[in-house]
Amino acid sequence: MENHTKDSTMKVSSLNSIDLANDDLHHSVVSLKQACLDCGFFYVINHGINEEFMDDVFEQSKKFFALPLEEKMKVLRNEKHRGYTPVLDEILDPKNQVNGDHKEGYYIGIEVPKDDPHWDKPFYGPNPWPDADVLPGWRETMEKYHQEALRVSMAIGKLLALALDLDVEYFDRTEMLGKPIATMRLLRYQGISDPSKGIYACGAHSDFGMMTLLATDGVMGLQICKDKNATPQKWEYVPPIKGAFIVNLGDMLERWSNGFFKSTLHRVLGNGQERYSIPFFVEPNHDCLVECLPTCKSESDLPKYPPIKCSTYLTQRYEETHAKLSIYHQQT
Ligand code: OGA
Ligand code: NI
Repeated sequence: MENHTKDSTMKVSSLNSIDLANDDLHHSVVSLKQACLDCGFFYVINHGINEEFMDDVFEQSKKFFALPLEEKMKVLRNEKHRGYTPVLDEILDPKNQVNGDHKEGYYIGIEVPKDDPHWDKPFYGPNPWPDADVLPGWRETMEKYHQEALRVSMAIGKLLALALDLDVEYFDRTEMLGKPIATMRLLRYQGISDPSKGIYACGAHSDFGMMTLLATDGVMGLQICKDKNATPQKWEYVPPIKGAFIVNLGDMLERWSNGFFKSTLHRVLGNGQERYSIPFFVEPNHDCLVECLPTCKSESDLPKYPPIKCSTYLTQRYEETHAKLSIYHQQT
């Protein structure tokens, strides 16, 4: 993988591209494995979600964020981490940020009705939806996107299994991605970031789960830092490619793979232009025990991380990074 400098301040990363329509599985797996060992970021193309539909999803996302704040507050994030997150609600890098992230969001998870035996699990439950009279067709568009993104995630999961020398269906089982936690998040960034003042569109972090499929509009902003221990840290932009997902591995996969596969630090800088993105966070089942995979340990590579249950780990990470819901109720 090579880097080139566009100008002295803007370094642009060049990432491997995984073509899901390529019949040469061996080639895809080798290229994916290389990306996972290097930085865990890669593009995914030919994933089967058509561009007109993607444009619709972004249009609907824009319509939501354009609503008056009081309308958005009607679907404020609940205790299941579903719904609207106002500006500054999340703080991903408290050590370097003066306030929270300069973004608004909307979390949508798997719709689990209240009569489902699993509905009371921490990241399950019904989604709050904006009023259908205010945003007709909105829910249908978002639910369809959720389904499609999950299908693409399962296809990537198969390639990841092969890259880890596991059975191709390893991650398809119920306790893995067969009945996963999978949460999409609509995001709108605004404002200008200034790292020297601790102001970020999205603070530096690594993602919590197995992997994230990121769809963005054409506005630059995402940066990665391949070596978090370097001083000073070197940040490279990841340019958006029309029609491609930017996919990155999360901390659970780093733990599963005993640190071989990388969950890389990333952040977003705002340049004053509005920017919309939609990460789709893929985590396994609530009860999945995330522990060193059989193919990633040996006498010389003992497991580095203690096993942890997916929902325990995720709950902890959300608590560390999101405002307490009680602050909103005090205001009203
Ligand atoms: C995230 C994230 C990047 C982006 O939400 O975890 O890294 O471009 N988003 O929105
Ligand atoms: Ni992220």
